[in-house]
Amino acid sequence: MQLVKLIRPLLVLSSLFVLAITCRHEILDPAGGSGNGGGVTPTEVTNCSADTVYFVNTVQPLLNSTCAMSGCHDAATHKDGIELTSYAKIMSTGGVNPGNPGSSKLYKVLSKSGSDRMPPPPYAGYTQAQKDIIYKWIAQGAKNNSCNACDTTLYTYSGAIAPMMNTYCKGCHQPASLGGGIDLSTYAAVKVQALNGKLMGSITQASGFSAMPKGGSKFSDCKITQLQKWIAAGMPNN
Ligand code: HEC
Repeated sequence: MQLVKLIRPLLVLSSLFVLAITCRHEILDPAGGSGNGGGVTPTEVTNCSADTVYFVNTVQPLLNSTCAMSGCHDAATHKDGIELTSYAKIMSTGGVNPGNPGSSKLYKVLSKSGSDRMPPPPYAGYTQAQKDIIYKWIAQGAKNNSCNACDTTLYTYSGAIAPMMNTYCKGCHQPASLGGGIDLSTYAAVKVQALNGKLMGSITQASGFSAMPKGGSKFSDCKITQLQKWIAAGMPNN
């Protein structure tokens, strides 16, 4: 009894603290994103257009695998002050002039010669198709956009679950900002919430659970199915 009396005010205090964090997140993160600027949540449309190059689906993965590596343009090295790890960093340090690839450093360096070319030798230079991705994305306004190519047959942790957590949940559920005391920033931590039922309870917005993603729209049936299948498969770290 004594202990409960002591703990209860602490719980109230900590949830007030969590609420304060939540408010700050909501102000920083206008739902839907504004297309450019520092919006954390990318604009998501349900159907992918073949004519559009989407930042989240195509540009960031390409830059991640060819530029934002250790020793190059990751957060730790950020060679020449250029960090290509996120939309905000790409826009603030990558020399992107939205709508005008010809005057954008990010595009121009792809076709330079010798060690001025990016990625520099001995790395392979971009293929024409890869150059076209960057060109088109900048020409289309260098937006922080994504399209939802959700596929219920894809439910691996690395291919579906982790990207989902990173995009929609991790901002509020990581050690630096633990909404409700819940961590969703690692495989092990996500598995804990899958096992105790809270993950599905919150995203299906079942009664008795806090509806997630907080402040955002409910997940599509496809995303919910991906999570259900991953859990039913035993939550593999695949
Ligand atoms: C804007 C911040 C924010 C986002 C985004 C967010 N959460 Fe939460 N989450 C919270 C807070 C704060 C709580 C504590 C309960 C509350 O305030 O509703 C919480 C609680 C939870 C809980 C506990 C629910 C319960 O009833 O015990 C789970 C599970 C959870 N979140 C999962 C998720 C998942 C999965 C996502 C992504 C789809 C997500 N959250 C996105 C802030 C957020």
